[in-house]
Amino acid sequence: MDLKSKDLLGMQNLSFEEINLLCDTAKSFVEIATRPIKKVPVLRGKTVANLFFEPSTRTRLSFELAARRLSADIVDIPAMISSAAYGETLTDLAKTIEAMTVDFIVVRHSMAGAPHQLARQIKCSVINAGDGSHEHPTQALVDLYTIKEKKGYIEGLRVAIIGDILHSRTAKSNIWGLKTMGAKVVLIGPKTLIPPGIERLGVDTSYRMEEGLRGVDVIILSRVELTEQNRALLPSLREYSRFYCLNEERLGYAQKNVLVMHSGSMNRGVEIAPEVADGAFSVIIEQVTNAVAVDMAVLYLLSGGKKS
Ligand code: CP
Repeated sequence: MDLKSKDLLGMQNLSFEEINLLCDTAKSFVEIATRPIKKVPVLRGKTVANLFFEPSTRTRLSFELAARRLSADIVDIPAMISSAAYGETLTDLAKTIEAMTVDFIVVRHSMAGAPHQLARQIKCSVINAGDGSHEHPTQALVDLYTIKEKKGYIEGLRVAIIGDILHSRTAKSNIWGLKTMGAKVVLIGPKTLIPPGIERLGVDTSYRMEEGLRGVDVIILSRVELTEQNRALLPSLREYSRFYCLNEERLGYAQKNVLVMHSGSMNRGVEIAPEVADGAFSVIIEQVTNAVAVDMAVLYLLSGGKKS
């Protein structure tokens, strides 16, 4: 089986079979990180371009390591010193990069739909590394892979996603992916940060941790910060922390063997208490490790590789 598209743009259009294929392929790549020489020659001669218009530590580094471990070449194009700073359009910039016979462009952009626009206009594979508040499919694949590895299955699990759901691209991708895999999803956060009508996607919502966390098998936290986008919607981080910080007492409402996950850089003391972040139920560091194998699977399968 192959992936249907030349690009990875979002979780919304990935099927159950494709998500399983990506997870199974990632699993086969995990072992490479334990070898003395962490490299296989499967993408030798291919080139990956990282094009990030927003800050990133995990995703950018993870794709860089993934490309290197598959023996691909990788070029990093810092947006601020690229011609975009002089007014070149995103499409012209991407066509310029493609003209140098690049095979993959990994793009992060503040505009929702920017990777989709590129994918329509260039022949190489486009990977969405986060577009505005829209989607972040590779982080969702990391989260799904981690759940599958730790629990053995996803179907029927109750998963809570907590935080600024309105602006979180990872939350959106996780909702699509978890629903496709048969999980039950509950979104928890202040009413102002949960998109109105999102229940139409088949998810539950709750504005109270004590209610939303009851019986959940997995908790996925997202970073909460005061940004231009949400300044009018969130009175203060102190207020958020008072009602929504995941501490040990609140963790007690979940199942006994709950997984605690975080989809980005943590704000300790805001969305997660340090003793929970470093506690026995946390798999946050494992998520970071898994990201390299998942990104290897994405590059490999988009290049036409088959599951071995
Ligand atoms: N998870 C994630 O997107 O992290 P970065 O912003 O560091 O890439």
